[in-house]
Amino acid sequence: MTVPTAPTAPTAPTAPTASPAATAGPAGARETPEAVFDAAVAADERIEPRDWMPEAYRASLVRQIAQHAHSEIIGMQPEANWITRAPSLRRKAILMAKVQDEAGHGLYLYSAAETLGVSRDELLDKLHTGRQKYSSIFNYPTLTWADVGAIGWLVDGAAITNQVPLCRCSYGPYARAMVRICKEESFHQRQGYEALLALSRGTPEQHAMAQDAVDRWWWPSLMMFGPPDDESSHSAQSMAWKIKRHSNDELRRRFVDICVPQAEALGLTLPDPELRWNEERGHYDFGAIDWAEFREVLKGDGPCNEQRITQRRRAHEDGAWVREAAAAHAAKHGEATR
Ligand SMILES: [Fe+2]
Ligand SMILES: [Fe+2]
Repeated sequence: MTVPTAPTAPTAPTAPTASPAATAGPAGARETPEAVFDAAVAADERIEPRDWMPEAYRASLVRQIAQHAHSEIIGMQPEANWITRAPSLRRKAILMAKVQDEAGHGLYLYSAAETLGVSRDELLDKLHTGRQKYSSIFNYPTLTWADVGAIGWLVDGAAITNQVPLCRCSYGPYARAMVRICKEESFHQRQGYEALLALSRGTPEQHAMAQDAVDRWWWPSLMMFGPPDDESSHSAQSMAWKIKRHSNDELRRRFVDICVPQAEALGLTLPDPELRWNEERGHYDFGAIDWAEFREVLKGDGPCNEQRITQRRRAHEDGAWVREAAAAHAAKHGEATR
């Protein structure tokens, strides 16, 4: 998912770009590489890794794709917490598949970032040392089984709202990765909805558990769209480059409009007394978001920030032997086929 809230990372991409030599335009005039790039973006064409691109475009993509990749793999933690305690074999199998999907999303995205000339090691190091962010939603705890349903419905649902427009992102490898990711996120959203529906229609205790999870996840899921448009430092440039297609507030409104009827169908209440249909605007009005909480969690003071990053670092260290074995195997295989 994409949460365009992290400060710009001081990334210095190193990949060589395609020759910046001027090319002949249609009228025989010499076109600068910038003009070729601008024309491709204006014509809704894809920018590919070997094409010339402005350094700021490359750096912005690295920041966004890395943050997205980090969110996918950190996002495995809160749900993995419930794999061993899933209420049935069916639920356990579904949850395992979902958590594995998130690992796969991380892999596609790190690969997309690598096409911009950064290594996965470098990106992981930045995550582990706090120099790149992940979505702050994953710094909240999963207290009950219903949280797995609420995450699927709301967090994966918000991710889809954010990511479907990214399938048309101007950078080819990111856009293509997003197509498959969105298909899988759609499954995640439905499994969450279905799990919540089962609880909502269950015993009074199960219904209360579902309602409590929705009460806790609703507001953080609205924060996933990032700060309001007038405070979002990256939005305008990202939209001009057609990396982003819609503003944070626009996507947030769209998400609220989708969720309200779904909550009614679930028999659950969204925890916002100000939520009501606005005939004039054709959208639901909703209450004020607690941006102070958002900033606290983003800067590292959320309920689980430390736990998440500690666990990630430990998993990385525990996996060192796998990376070494894979590298040794690749070296040996390379020698054998030489
Ligand atoms: Fe994902
Ligand atoms: Fe997902």
